[in-house]
Amino acid sequence: MWFVAWVAACGGDSSGIAETTSAEGTCGLAGCDDGTGSGTTAASGSSGGGVDSSGGGTTGGGTTGLPCDVADVVERNCLLCHAPPDGLYGAPMSLASIDDWQVPAVTMPTMAVYQLADMRIEDPVAPMPENMVMSDADKAVLHAWFDAGAPAGNADDCGGGTTGDTEGDTGVGPDALPCEPSHTFVAAAGDGSDEPFHVPESGADNLYMCFTFASPFNGTLQGTAWAPITDDERVLHHWILFRTQQPQVDGGAGPCDMPSDAVFVSGWAPGGQNFVMPDDVGLELGGPDDYFILQVHYHNTDHHADAFDKSGVAFCTTDTPREHTAGVLTLGTTTIDVPAGATGVDAVGHCPSAITNFLPVDLNVMASFPHMHGLGRKFNTTVTRDGQDMTLVDVPAFSFDNQISYPHEPPFVIKAGDSLTTTCTYDNPGGSDVHFGERTEDEMCFNFALLYPIDILPSQYRICMTD
Ligand code: HEC
Repeated sequence: MWFVAWVAACGGDSSGIAETTSAEGTCGLAGCDDGTGSGTTAASGSSGGGVDSSGGGTTGGGTTGLPCDVADVVERNCLLCHAPPDGLYGAPMSLASIDDWQVPAVTMPTMAVYQLADMRIEDPVAPMPENMVMSDADKAVLHAWFDAGAPAGNADDCGGGTTGDTEGDTGVGPDALPCEPSHTFVAAAGDGSDEPFHVPESGADNLYMCFTFASPFNGTLQGTAWAPITDDERVLHHWILFRTQQPQVDGGAGPCDMPSDAVFVSGWAPGGQNFVMPDDVGLELGGPDDYFILQVHYHNTDHHADAFDKSGVAFCTTDTPREHTAGVLTLGTTTIDVPAGATGVDAVGHCPSAITNFLPVDLNVMASFPHMHGLGRKFNTTVTRDGQDMTLVDVPAFSFDNQISYPHEPPFVIKAGDSLTTTCTYDNPGGSDVHFGERTEDEMCFNFALLYPIDILPSQYRICMTD
């Protein structure tokens, strides 16, 4: 079978050009490039590597007491999250002052922070920094410093520094949108009130919560721009907004039970930016029979008792349809077999040229959102044209806890005759074989590719996968 009519199967009938019953989504996350333009950074390849760089976007200046070469590396790679006084976005500590590196690590007090950092910057599964690729040169500076015992520098003022360089923090949030948001989806207490969600003081070191909503959209509204709302930044790690046709409680809050037809709409992780559509492109938002699920990942590792959160996303919309409509084409595979104990097992899915040959126009891919579950280690989508391979997206160290969207700026153009190959790589340390499925213990292998014009594809053709 060439196309799996997965969305159609879950969405009842598919009546030809069904604009409101299909998958769609958006980006909204900047992958946090470290600014070195490393070729292995996600969103590299022929998309131009246009990942928004928020490196160095540290609020309130740089470091104190570090040697200057170390300070430079730390400011660009660590302080976005490890900001004083206690860290942001779930990072459990600051790394801004020399003392921060010498104290016992929060979760592993038998080691000094710098000793744990020495391991974490090489950790294949949960590397630091998150979501970024740190250059080998930067790593070498840190390792040399760690090897020497992380001594203080002799100059407090390294010159330059990052003071005033708040690029990563400006222009983000609803107030920075060029339009007035009309709809928001935010975390809430779940009791029908407008109260924020109370992130528990204990038991929330690694908490996934899902907030559910009936669709407020009528089927004709299109999204024109959206912005993350980052409320309690001490404990908010990342969030993803999904859309589904499986009924959900409007205003619900609880553990996540993600339906299999859930499709990425937008997301945010530290460094993520506002997203403004080109003037001639509008995002499909679906109709009144849809539901939305805001999945939020919290780290209250510091056990704050007063963590109340209303994070989420704000959308601007228009009821005047734009020339092009953007939505999601799902790539990947549902043929996944990862034997117990196996490592480095690939699942490979194709969107072959036999299919893309029928494209009447080029497709412009604006962003890729790779999606796997907990065993996923690497992710890649490659486009082959005239025998030549081009990387659409490559994530060498995938982590379920750090799922982000990878923007393609300018859009990656898919032409008739191209073939797209998506490869997911898994490690299975457990005792049972793992296959495709929607439960957390099952696996997935999808690239939700946000592109336009999506409306040339009837809803049942918005999944392109063969084995
Ligand atoms: C985008 C956000 C982000 C960036 C950038 C980042 N970290 Fe982290 N860091 C986290 C989060 C979240 C945690 C807690 C979860 C975890 O351990 O994975 C963490 C945990 C850690 C820990 C473990 C602390 C403990 O007690 O368990 C170390 C060590 C660490 N980071 C070092 C670094 C270093 C060194 C850099 C820069 C080279 C860096 N991080 C950059 C978000 C970040």
